[in-house]
Amino acid sequence: MTLHDSPESRALAQQAAKLQQTSIAAMLEEDADRVHSFSAEAAGLHLDFSRHLLDRDSLAGLLALAQRADVRSRINALFSGEHVNPTEDRPALHMLLRASGVSDDPRSAEVLATRERMRECVALLRSGRHRGFGGHPIADVVNIGIGGSDLGPRLTSEALTPVPSAAPRVHYVANIDPEDLHGILAPLNPATTLFIVCSKSFGTEETLHNALAARRWLRDAGAADADMAAHFLAVTTNLQAAADFGIPADNCLPLWDWVGGRYSLWSAIGLSTAIATGWDSFADLLRGAEGMDRHFRDAPPERNLPLLMSLLEIWCCHFLGAGNHAVLPYAHRLRRLPDFLQQLTMESNGKRVSRGGAALDYSSAPVLWGAAGTIGQHSFHQLLHQGTRLCPVDFILPLAPAGADVDGRHARLVANCLAQSRALMVGRSEEEARQSLDQRGHSDAEATALAPHLAMPGNRPHSILSFPQLTPRALGALLALYEHRTFCSSVLWDINAFDQWGVELGKEIGRQVHDAMSGTPLGEKISQPGGLDSATDAMIRRWRDANT
Ligand code: F6P
Repeated sequence: MTLHDSPESRALAQQAAKLQQTSIAAMLEEDADRVHSFSAEAAGLHLDFSRHLLDRDSLAGLLALAQRADVRSRINALFSGEHVNPTEDRPALHMLLRASGVSDDPRSAEVLATRERMRECVALLRSGRHRGFGGHPIADVVNIGIGGSDLGPRLTSEALTPVPSAAPRVHYVANIDPEDLHGILAPLNPATTLFIVCSKSFGTEETLHNALAARRWLRDAGAADADMAAHFLAVTTNLQAAADFGIPADNCLPLWDWVGGRYSLWSAIGLSTAIATGWDSFADLLRGAEGMDRHFRDAPPERNLPLLMSLLEIWCCHFLGAGNHAVLPYAHRLRRLPDFLQQLTMESNGKRVSRGGAALDYSSAPVLWGAAGTIGQHSFHQLLHQGTRLCPVDFILPLAPAGADVDGRHARLVANCLAQSRALMVGRSEEEARQSLDQRGHSDAEATALAPHLAMPGNRPHSILSFPQLTPRALGALLALYEHRTFCSSVLWDINAFDQWGVELGKEIGRQVHDAMSGTPLGEKISQPGGLDSATDAMIRRWRDANT
């Protein structure tokens, strides 16, 4: 394995040890060209990675590592439809979903036909021609889905339509906790509400039970079985299961097994986004992603944005010892980006064995977390600046506001982002802290005692990913960038980014636990252990007591 033991990884380990003794600020000062040399641009996005603990030699070493891992041929394999997901014996062709023309690939005609059906559906709903059982236009659309059938559309809808327009308002329900659906439906009118049941498998417990509850809600409001067709659409690979649920074939938009759930927002899973933002906007989202696909496929490694970001991830995690990664969007509209990226990166690369099935002897994906700036500054940034853990950061920064900046608050938002970046880099020495305390009138003794608490080591690695404005194209490019970065890292870690077996055991045990919970009437003590373990049985008893 390349990371485990190769001349490139050994050289990089030595360089990392050497660079730990240097400072990012000093490297920036010594090299007038550093900002330029440690930047790259693609599809309207600009990556500045000059504030990483990285020099030209180590960057060259990382590119050599990528060559050793044969990233180029893995990219070719991805785009050419090879079965890059061997445990499920499938390709991963989400790029086809955003390709604008018909390609040689036989799947592309079906993609375009489905896109056309989506466009018609959006036109029907936005023009008010689609009517509910009372004869009135649909006013609210509720997307029922979870994981990839929720996070992508939810993020893109919120990012592109911060204020609900005249179009039907779009809502999202994911959790099986009844409070989720209840909270969304309470103010809505059943006669003017349409549900889109999004589930690649059409077998996901949360989605199916929420869809059943939605149907009961419509029935309770007087909808007849024949009315349901006006109130339910489905997006799934499992048309039979959708039909069994009662959603007619004409109301089902297809999805394909070569699209992973977390890569599916570009398919009909994105229908709710297209309804919320309008078709042109959704089409631009696809174009932005397509632009990044072309760049990723064609750009040389040293200018390839997804590859460079992946190499930074590998550098920070594998060679500098980071176990987590923060993504901080300085854009309220992107506040859900960390949620989306958590599934993308951790479901893809949270693996413990190689593609060949051998246990890894190094760490794979870091824990990804984050929140919108400036909110996080008043919460967890303390740890970023003074905590003992290394937390590499991606700042995401649209440079101009999406609307008018009448009172200059957006400029302040940008200033805060740049200030956080500079503070992470330069820090503050104890001597500087002492001087500042001195100036504020503290005695020498007080200044000496307080200085260690005010000092900040700085030298904390981070990138700034900026773009002129949060347009649909920029968003499409941004999300595709992280998809491809995730893939490159999987190649370097030698893992399969496209399966997710780790979620299955919990689902199986969930069924057993539910059986055990419902096995004995409420109020009766479980005489027999539920066949599970004493701790789970004890919790089930506590549940019974609370529900008696
Ligand atoms: O349980 C994990 C998962 O399978 C994700 O990979 C997927 O995005 C989500 O559940 C929802 O799956 P589905 O779209 O099949 O309902």
